[in-house]
Amino acid sequence: MCGIVGYVGPRAAVDVVMDGLRRLEYRGYDSAGVAIVAQGQVALAKKAGKIANLDKALAEQPLPTDGLGIGHTRWATHGAPNDVNAHPHLSADGRVALVHNGIIENFVQLRSELAADGITMTSETDTEVVAHLLGQAVAAGSGLGDAMRAVCLRLAGAFTLVAVDTDAPDLVVAARRNSPLVVGVGEGENFLASDVAAFLQHTREAIELGQDQVVEIRSDSVLVTTFDGKPAQVRPYHVDWDLSAAEKDGYDWFMRKEIYEQPKAVFDTLLGRRDSRGALILDEIRISEAELRLVDKIIVIACGTSFYAGLVAKYAIEHWTRIPCEVELASEFRYRDPIVGPTTLVVTISQSGETADTLMAIRHAREQRAKVLAICNTNGSTIPRESDAVIYTHAGPEVGVASTKGFLTQLVACYLLGLYLAQVRGSKFGDEITAIMEELEHIPAALELLLDDMQPVLDLAAEFAAEPSVLFLGRHVGYPVALEGALKLKELAYIHAEGFAAGELKHGPIALIENGLPVFVVVPPQGRDMLHDKVVSNIQEIRARGARTVVLAEEDDHEVDAVADVLIRLPKVSTLLQPLVATVPLQIFACELATRKGHDVDQPRNLAKSVTVE
Ligand code: AGP
Repeated sequence: MCGIVGYVGPRAAVDVVMDGLRRLEYRGYDSAGVAIVAQGQVALAKKAGKIANLDKALAEQPLPTDGLGIGHTRWATHGAPNDVNAHPHLSADGRVALVHNGIIENFVQLRSELAADGITMTSETDTEVVAHLLGQAVAAGSGLGDAMRAVCLRLAGAFTLVAVDTDAPDLVVAARRNSPLVVGVGEGENFLASDVAAFLQHTREAIELGQDQVVEIRSDSVLVTTFDGKPAQVRPYHVDWDLSAAEKDGYDWFMRKEIYEQPKAVFDTLLGRRDSRGALILDEIRISEAELRLVDKIIVIACGTSFYAGLVAKYAIEHWTRIPCEVELASEFRYRDPIVGPTTLVVTISQSGETADTLMAIRHAREQRAKVLAICNTNGSTIPRESDAVIYTHAGPEVGVASTKGFLTQLVACYLLGLYLAQVRGSKFGDEITAIMEELEHIPAALELLLDDMQPVLDLAAEFAAEPSVLFLGRHVGYPVALEGALKLKELAYIHAEGFAAGELKHGPIALIENGLPVFVVVPPQGRDMLHDKVVSNIQEIRARGARTVVLAEEDDHEVDAVADVLIRLPKVSTLLQPLVATVPLQIFACELATRKGHDVDQPRNLAKSVTVE
């Protein structure tokens, strides 16, 4: 996600802001910018690419060294990563400069209201809309603080906003909803930032902003209110982390931090996907509804963890749309002389958008005149650029090599695609689609509860730290979860781990079962179908042969009590959505076991975050 810095005080604001942005680089970004209010003007510089590009621009055209300032590192959501879309954005009259982290769900409607006022956008971003709204408010006589409060009440979505106004040369104003923002309280100076890493070298006294709050900082004051202007309770605290811990928000690994970011990543990926009538709107799909109605085959292409997301997608897409859906390893696809044509929809899933195997596979598919839709977490990367359409996941940068929030948000994007196809092709009624969307919208809360209760999994990692081999079983959508659980353990703990379809065990792998062997089993929700009972009998088979069974089952499933040596309870969700919750304990287990083995969890041996070679 984006990095934000604001400063007011006696130091050269441009230097403080730029230094703060450099300390937020670890968050990942694709452009950067800074705005300084001095001598009644806004001076601004912003460049695509790394901060070095911005440094170069500032060397050629320095900004004033007095005044106050705001800065931003952008992880693109709406609009490609280029100079124009980089933040800060200015109001039409150039009086207000604004930076933003998050997603403004209703920006299209607000943009049309501004157009009616004769204001046209210069960028493709949702952020620019807010800059113009603030500009209109202060031009009408509001102070920047009142303008921010009024505008926030009109916004839907998740946002951290930080703004400055040439007519308020001593004031920086910020607002927060569902996106992090902290105040750094100094001596005769104050700071704003996405996280404390940006100002830790200046002060360790901080104030965490709460939900729907506005803060006005001057060099000698900090005023916090609610969006409707009432004084707000704040929580000052002393930061005792070192810089490295601050970058990981206090976690020991980026991976562990990203596991715990999953509720917000899922929430952000679902934002803005339905219109006022509740219909799905995937605004990045540039394949017409008529073409989607002609699709007679879907081939999902990906690698590694993303391939497992594709396996889950198959179950959901086929169930909801009745379109045949194949799932193919990218590295195998183009060598098997696949049957692909203009009515084939190729869906490619990639967190990085740069995986060479996947890129080469979609190029082959396009040569066969297939339409290609990319599910990707990295705006503007090669794979979405070479696709006919894209659904961006909004997980924010994933620093840990082992994918976690990238995987969960890929699942969400796959569900959204399946539901969208069902909506376009009429294979599901609107109310059926709404019911599934409403269940998806409850997943972030379910994940928060699940993540609050992971001590049994951490204890298990301690108990199994010396195990040479672990197996994972699942059936239906639990099978890809088993494969992903095994991959996490392989790539982090460097031990033998294997995932199997539970029904496949008796066809050979059951010979592996011996006394004490740990076997994780993902049990589907209880229901009329035989799925649940079949898996319970699979567990009995392996217990009879001495396996130590770790059973993941939904909270009120007591049929598994007798067959589980260890029980990990999952929130109740419907069958197709269960991977969203069943995967999380397996991520935690692998992360903790690797930590106990003393491995570098964020940079496991032999692995790269993006495999850009075939
Ligand atoms: C997952 O933990 C691994 N890092 C790896 O399998 C990864 O999923 C695979 O390389 C695909 O990467 P992509 O999603 O960026 O294309």
